[in-house]
Amino acid sequence: MGRELRRDRDLDIPGIDLPGSHGAAEFVKGFDGHPDVSRDWSPQPRHVGVIGAGNVALDVARVLAKHAEDVPVTEIPHELHRGLAVNRATDVHVFARRGLVQARFTPKELRELDHVPGVEVVVDPEDVEFDEGSLAALRAGEQTRMVVRTLQDWALRDRRPAHDPALRRLHLHFLAAPVAVLGADRVTGLRTERIELDGRGGVRGTGVFTDHPLQALYRATGYIGSELPELPFDALSGTLPHAAGRVLDFDDQHVPGVYACGWIKRGPVGPIGHIVPSTRPPCVLETVGSLLADADDLAPAPVPDPAAVVELLEERGVRHTTWDGRLQLDEHARGLGEERGRERLGVAPGEERADLARVGQRPGALKSWALHQS
Ligand SMILES: NC(=O)c1ccc[n+]([C@@H]2O[C@H](COP(=O)([O-])OP(=O)(O)OC[C@H]3O[C@@H](n4cnc5c(N)ncnc54)[C@H](OP(=O)(O)O)[C@@H]3O)[C@@H](O)[C@H]2O)c1
Repeated sequence: MGRELRRDRDLDIPGIDLPGSHGAAEFVKGFDGHPDVSRDWSPQPRHVGVIGAGNVALDVARVLAKHAEDVPVTEIPHELHRGLAVNRATDVHVFARRGLVQARFTPKELRELDHVPGVEVVVDPEDVEFDEGSLAALRAGEQTRMVVRTLQDWALRDRRPAHDPALRRLHLHFLAAPVAVLGADRVTGLRTERIELDGRGGVRGTGVFTDHPLQALYRATGYIGSELPELPFDALSGTLPHAAGRVLDFDDQHVPGVYACGWIKRGPVGPIGHIVPSTRPPCVLETVGSLLADADDLAPAPVPDPAAVVELLEERGVRHTTWDGRLQLDEHARGLGEERGRERLGVAPGEERADLARVGQRPGALKSWALHQS
């Protein structure tokens, strides 16, 4: 089994491990066609919940509300496509433990939620609450203002007829902190506590609880990085200790030749495109700058022949494919897509994917692709 590099941060509430309660990391990896994830994409039940008010929660909720014909032509695993073709979900509930202003959605990703045909996004006007702390945050941030404006518009608009059988609803609940997952032997609901803003940018519980009937629950409350056995690790933040991208050992000395960049350096914050512009100093530029500054002192590769990469993978028992294998897999994905009127459909589970990609390996093939670590 491969090492799990992206994991869900723990959510410590009773019932979180009940069958029917899932982490977003597994869901998103399955959706992305991660080769190590073999996910059950059987039809979703009617009422599904998602905990969290970040972009991952939006991604998960949007997929859960979709039907197969709503999924764009980009590649998705064929099992997911089959599951969405019989998706029974009528109501997807997203639970944010704080207010509109404190949501971590980004404006574009939030607006996209309203573009799924046949899905109505619902915000309860009673959840639209601002205190002094929220107003200060609104004044300070253009992005926050855009998010709040969109949410307010949704709270104020007319609702579609409740009896419309073709309509699915995506409810965004604010000020609803999860306190327990309900159910004896599988998920039957989520209990939330009503939260109020404390005027200073914080929140407090009100002691008022609501039980939401649900048959499946996803938590999108943040990711955390995973430890690699050979390297030091800060378990609290889930990151590699570093100085300007140089990974440090327990004595704060640079581990020669090891550099960190992205979420394993900064923690799981920011979309992919933000890796350069939004961090100060820019994350990747800082790391590459350190690497270039050290370049003359770095030990050269013991075997500089690029084919040595393939030999090393074989020596370590890492299953991999060549460029020809990748093309073979692509051909298969196109064939699957053709059957359903799409350009291609992906093949997710590692075993199946590895079998399809296993071709005679050309000596010296450079584009080896690690499929599965044993
Ligand atoms: N398309 C895109 O651009 C895209 C797609 C996916 C992800 N991303 C990025 O990837 C990063 C990670 O996203 P993410 O959604 O995993 O994380 P995130 O933005 O940190 O959001 C996590 C959410 O979980 C909530 N939460 C945490 N602990 C909780 C608890 N115990 N109970 C209830 N709620 C809890 C947080 O609420 P509090 O704020 O109250 O802590 C927050 O709303 C973000 O920077 C995101 O923008 C981008």
